[in-house]
Amino acid sequence: DDDEAGAPRSLGFAAVAKNRNDAVTLPAGYSATVLYAFGDPIDGGTPDFRNDGTDTASDRRAGDQHDGMAYFGLSDAGQWARTRSDRGLLAINHEQVLDAYLHVAGPTQDVNGNRPQAEVDKEMNAHGVSIIEVRREVGSNRMSYVRTSPFNRRITPFTEMDITGPARGSARLFTPFSPNGTRTRGTLNNCAHGHTPWGTYLTCEENWFSYWKRGDDVALRNAADNAQLARNGLSPNSAGFSYRKWDTVDADVYRRFNITAQPGGSATTDYRNEANTFGYIVEIDPFDPDSRPQKRTALGRIVHEGCWAAPAIPGRPLVFYMGDDARFEYIYKFVSAENWDPADAERSDRLAVGAKYLDHGTLYVAKFNADGSGEWIALVHNQNGLDINNTLFPFASQADVCIATRLAADAVGATKMDRPEWAAVNPVNGEVYLTLTNNTRRTQQGQADAANPRLGNANGHIIRWRESGGVQEAMRFDWDIFLFGAASDADPATTNVSGLTDANDFSSPDGLWFDARGVLWIQTDDGVFPGNDRSNNQMLAALPGRVGDGVVVTTTNAPTIAGAKATGDTVRRFLVGPRGCEITGVDMTPDYRTMFVNVQHPGEDGTLDQLDSTWPNPSRNALQTGAAGQRPRSATIVITRDDGGPIGV
Ligand code: FEO
Ligand code: CA
Ligand code: CA
Ligand code: CA
Repeated sequence: DDDEAGAPRSLGFAAVAKNRNDAVTLPAGYSATVLYAFGDPIDGGTPDFRNDGTDTASDRRAGDQHDGMAYFGLSDAGQWARTRSDRGLLAINHEQVLDAYLHVAGPTQDVNGNRPQAEVDKEMNAHGVSIIEVRREVGSNRMSYVRTSPFNRRITPFTEMDITGPARGSARLFTPFSPNGTRTRGTLNNCAHGHTPWGTYLTCEENWFSYWKRGDDVALRNAADNAQLARNGLSPNSAGFSYRKWDTVDADVYRRFNITAQPGGSATTDYRNEANTFGYIVEIDPFDPDSRPQKRTALGRIVHEGCWAAPAIPGRPLVFYMGDDARFEYIYKFVSAENWDPADAERSDRLAVGAKYLDHGTLYVAKFNADGSGEWIALVHNQNGLDINNTLFPFASQADVCIATRLAADAVGATKMDRPEWAAVNPVNGEVYLTLTNNTRRTQQGQADAANPRLGNANGHIIRWRESGGVQEAMRFDWDIFLFGAASDADPATTNVSGLTDANDFSSPDGLWFDARGVLWIQTDDGVFPGNDRSNNQMLAALPGRVGDGVVVTTTNAPTIAGAKATGDTVRRFLVGPRGCEITGVDMTPDYRTMFVNVQHPGEDGTLDQLDSTWPNPSRNALQTGAAGQRPRSATIVITRDDGGPIGV
């Protein structure tokens, strides 16, 4: 097609072999250095990181578990410079903590079960977002971060934020901290991300519910509250899987992690509503270190994986795609009410631009039909049964739809997917790809459907769609399945239906990114295969083709192929990470010569007594193993080609 004339027609590297090495592996002719590892100081006054659990000043260091990430070129005047490749700001999510390595000897508590404040502070500060300045080294495409840059910033679960959009001021968001429901403190479990056409960063609150504790307060809440909390993983007498007893430190900013309603209390005297202020897309202006992050409630409250923009077209609405990463959850799309004005890309009041496009618009949820068509169903108050008489939740306003979003999606009959993770929009033709990482709980006959056709889907798949007429804000789409994850030696009739080989087999696709040339990068988060026994997690490059030449499902649990299979010419392994890590987060400079990749939680399967990984190497060569006995660290690495050429092609 003419519109694809600029897309690369071949991948320019030899496939990397699967391996279990405790180092990053890249194709011949590529190098990688460690740019920014857990604990690295972000100013000149904070001491170097000792990495023995005794380090202080955690609010002025890199957080843990690097995840989604975006590069923004930086002009000499400190403004956004879209085409600049030698100097920029890197925004990096810190999703979680590996607390085994955070403290001197693991997390502790006193005889009453209370956590020490110093440990809790360290754990909270290791979450959130980093903004760091990065620069090319002289005569090289390699980059390092500028330790003393005034742009360097940490955003953590302590950082004050505004709540904007339809849910701002809702009584469901009233708290002792913000009795009028307009502010909250912090962001949590920042998994993937997005960025906007006006130069801001979006960080997305994924498993936020897992940090809270809730006692049995059913009788003290109304039915709507109880329904909404239970649907979000906060049933009575529950504590989430990342619950770290932060609420046991005796100060308001910590006690809020117990949301149990108190007898005789109210929304402004206890913390019953605190968790309602989490679960959103958060907008950050990386160029203004003093700016206050904005929680954009119009984009819904779910277990937000990420938020990816379609290319902005002047005079047309902006479109964002989002996944809710849990088993049997949904895919969403947000369409702005305002049409895109390219002059807004030049403005320096970026969060005001964000309010224009992200506080007003329509949220949709996806339904995938068995005939390869699909539709977007509007989640709008008083449409599609989302009204006060709804049996799942009494929707009294759009604020309620934006707070109880999962119940709204349930009510309109959206398609339950196999864990929606990252989306990516092909810059060449607007087609949207989305990873469905796995779902081993889809086990019952009748649970499989055309879009999620494998029972016991341990290896996941990548679905894609083309919006009707190529119009991104359209209400209908056509879809197919681009790739199924599988082991190369698995049954080609039921499991390895994409025909993967040793050069490109993978499992549990998660991170997904199109570079501007149209090369698709696929990252994995797998603990079973190829994870533990065949290979560490990995990143592949793919030349994607079009909707319609992928997999057509004729019977559930036995998909058949039409069109081209995934050959080594079109899908090829580019990188294998160190032991125990997930590979997640990728971006490049605009000239394609410097690539950033995140190595998340190396050594996750080990303990202080029995380390599974000691990566990274103290000399910061990412391709080498670490020093014996050294605690592993999550890190951003920088990949360059030794001959200075563009990466991947
Ligand atoms: Fe944090 Fe769904 O990955
Ligand atoms: Ca993910
Ligand atoms: Ca994942
Ligand atoms: Ca992970």
